[in-house]
Amino acid sequence: MFMCRTGIAVVGLGLALTSATYGHTQSQRYDIGRTPTAEEIAAYDISVAPDGEGLPPGGGTANQGQSIYAVRCAECHGATGREGPNDILVGGQGTLASDQPLRTVGSYWPYATTLWDYINRAMPFETPGTLSADDVYSTVAYILFLNGLVEENQRLDLETLPQVRMPNRDGFVLDDRPDVGPTAVHPVVASPVSHPRNEE
Ligand code: HEC
Repeated sequence: MFMCRTGIAVVGLGLALTSATYGHTQSQRYDIGRTPTAEEIAAYDISVAPDGEGLPPGGGTANQGQSIYAVRCAECHGATGREGPNDILVGGQGTLASDQPLRTVGSYWPYATTLWDYINRAMPFETPGTLSADDVYSTVAYILFLNGLVEENQRLDLETLPQVRMPNRDGFVLDDRPDVGPTAVHPVVASPVSHPRNEE
């Protein structure tokens, strides 16, 4: 009986406290933390767009990337990018429409610029963010070289990388299903699509 009444009392008090706290924070700032510095924002602002916007200074060639790849990447992607055990990075060009498609950087990726972005933010898998900008340019160059897309001494940097044309650049279609919202762009606008979310 005593336990039961205590329990009810505690629950009641809890509710009262919750609503009091909630009302308080709605009208005041938390006053914790601080405004990030420009350097801190820059450290998070690493996105590279398909057109190359956001690429940093620096550069590298496949010849420079070969040793970085051997030390930092080959254990998971294979000595020539074809062996695995993880994702196959090289080969497969011309297989996408077959009944055994092999999706690799060379056969599937539409942009060399977003390859830079991906490796810069996500690889090596267990220590992402540890490659310098030059190292990323060099490993990108090496993977593109293994795919026959650049020469071994071709320097890739923020000017030249966006000019590399990937074989599957035109193999993607824009998603124009109505539920992707009003910002979806269609190259040939046939007729306006009516959807409740678009009309908000
Ligand atoms: C410890 C293992 C490991 C190491 C080392 C590693 N990777 Fe990866 N890599 C992976 C795994 C696992 C994935 C798949 C990740 C996923 O799908 O989320 C991947 C995916 C990738 C992809 C995307 C492949 C695709 O077509 O989707 C690229 C490109 C890549 N890695 C490049 C590199 C490069 C360059 C290095 C060296 C700088 C590197 N990786 C080092 C394990 C590794």
